Amino acid sequence: MKLFYILLSIGFCIFLGGCSRDLKQPFLEYAPQMYRSKPLEPYQQTEYNPYFKDGKNMQDPVAGTIARGKSDYYYPYEPTPEGYERAGKELKNPIPFTKENVEEGKRLYGIYCKHCHGTNGAGDGPVAAKISQPPPYNSARVKALTDGAIYHSITYGYNPYPAKGMGPHGSMLTPSERWKVVHYVKTLRGDPIPSPGAAASDSLVQKDKKDEAKKDKK
Ligand code: HEC
Repeated sequence: MKLFYILLSIGFCIFLGGCSRDLKQPFLEYAPQMYRSKPLEPYQQTEYNPYFKDGKNMQDPVAGTIARGKSDYYYPYEPTPEGYERAGKELKNPIPFTKENVEEGKRLYGIYCKHCHGTNGAGDGPVAAKISQPPPYNSARVKALTDGAIYHSITYGYNPYPAKGMGPHGSMLTPSERWKVVHYVKTLRGDPIPSPGAAASDSLVQKDKKDEAKKDKK
């Protein structure tokens, strides 16, 4: 029994020894390869890669090339105010404004935007209270935005650094998904209906508002 307690206290000391004030310098690690993989990982790298000049595991694509099937990822606008301005003027939404596409935009909006911008785009999502308030979609500011400007803001974020603004969503949504979200944002800001498919999308917004009203009553 005595031995048991001795072993237990040794074990406890080792356990405590693992705690270190400096999180970057852990004292004792059990099976470190469980934290730091031996194979070269693309997204998690702890050591300099000696095989490449820049030391990175994951290399950028060769300049001027486009990966197969990714041509719609080619985006010639920079994440700068000038890029935003140009995208707003030059880009057209290539995705047709149909009921299906707006519905898909609504589904994606529910996953990626609603928590900040709110169910009806009023800028009152639960996360909005913690950051600077997003502009309501029916505000003059958002009403004046072209499809291209909205697309650019989804891709690169708006005023994302240092923090507080809106972060980039380009890595989360494919280009066609972004355009579908643009359609849905436009139905939320109450745009006039530009095509027959939009009649359905407008009723979608009404339905949403009814759903909200029902929830409030409960
Ligand atoms: C973390 C919260 C957050 C998320 C998630 C978020 N936004 Fe935003 N959004 C903001 C804030 C805050 C602003 C205002 C930024 C500013 O003015 O500095 C903003 C601004 C905007 C604008 C106006 C940009 C402009 O060009 O003036 C649009 C449009 C927009 N968001 C759409 C979206 C869409 C669509 C999504 C989902 C793909 C989304 N946002 C996700 C917080 C968010």
